[in-house]
Amino acid sequence: MNMTLNVSLAERTYPILIGGALLDRSELILPHLAVKRAAIVSNETVAPLYLERLAAGLANSGVQLTRIVLPDGEQFKNWETLNRIYDALLEARCDRGTAIIALGGGVVGDIAGFAAATYQRGVPFVQVPTTLLSQVDSSVGGKTGINHPRGKNMIGAFWQPRLVLADTDTLKTLPARELSAGLAEIVKIALVRDLPFLEWLEENMDKLLAGDAAALAHAIGRSCRNKAEVVAADEQETDPAGGRALLNLGHTFGHAIETGLGYGQWLHGEAVAAGTVMAAELSHRLGWLAEVDVARVRRLFVRARLPVRGAALGAARYLDLMGHDKKVVAGRLRLVLLRQLGHAVTWADAPQTEIIAAIEACSG
Ligand code: NAD
Ligand code: GLY
Repeated sequence: MNMTLNVSLAERTYPILIGGALLDRSELILPHLAVKRAAIVSNETVAPLYLERLAAGLANSGVQLTRIVLPDGEQFKNWETLNRIYDALLEARCDRGTAIIALGGGVVGDIAGFAAATYQRGVPFVQVPTTLLSQVDSSVGGKTGINHPRGKNMIGAFWQPRLVLADTDTLKTLPARELSAGLAEIVKIALVRDLPFLEWLEENMDKLLAGDAAALAHAIGRSCRNKAEVVAADEQETDPAGGRALLNLGHTFGHAIETGLGYGQWLHGEAVAAGTVMAAELSHRLGWLAEVDVARVRRLFVRARLPVRGAALGAARYLDLMGHDKKVVAGRLRLVLLRQLGHAVTWADAPQTEIIAAIEACSG
């Protein structure tokens, strides 16, 4: 059954459509195009699977299309690949009305979104996410960007899509490791603000892993509803009380793993899982979470076939990398931690000795 949610941002409000066989429904995309011109950005893995299906409906409706196929991998989320998009748009003489349609996972969505934010000072953008992670998280909310060798997602812009079209049938071709990576962001959002959802995940994890369509649709819808509420309240992460920043639970630790090992070694979701366990451990050391709560977090990630120990970078290297994160405010590291399961907070007062102890207890 199809589901529609909205991200409420005044005149930039946009729908998230979730359901099966949506790739063939070009009539859902057409109202969101300024003119009948679009560039579909995908990658070498996703394009052979789905690009022509998406293109056929649009072309039949008279949309003039440019196809841009990027190399696949987090290690290509960089300036060189971004330039390939600009080159192709200019080569095809795409104008300011041309919509960019991202067809793929979070890497394609983030880089194509940044191209949309910057090409000719901004063109319409549509997200067609094809991984679980991108359907529950990255396609919603307008964060776009690329990595820098010194830090994840360091160059970017907020640029909201006009539509998110999540065809859940595309998940049938997703490798199991990628499905698990998506589960990490689902568990994360439940830990941040939705304890009943966490309990539902504990009951339904096996169904999700088995690719049960109804369970996946529920998890995608509930994650998107949570994210849409957070983004509507704090679009650009400026709320000093936490707001959107809370969605970065586990990310400051996780980004250190991704950058420290080199992009593409660990999947983003895997790094988020291990990073979230570190955040839970630190929350325990601050007296907030009970030991049984930390064990519960660990157990759920293990059941989702995700790592619960970070890479053996050494605490000093973690701290160095975390010091480059966007979560550093006025020179102080502001971490997202858990007051309780289902209730995240931002915290700049964690003693460094405890941060080091949490890293050491949860890595190597
Ligand atoms: P990804 O984009 O690398 O996709 C994972 C792999 O699955 C790739 O090899 C891809 O080609 C392949 N794939 C995609 N769809 C497929 C399908 N239907 N069938 C078979 N294979 C398919 O990774 P991801 O996990 O989707 O996204 C991770 C990225 O998202 C990271 O760069 C992360 O920083 C970013 N992210 C952004 C936000 C945001 O708010 N913008 C939020 C979370 C994560
Ligand atoms: N993934 C974090 C955010 O969108 O804010």
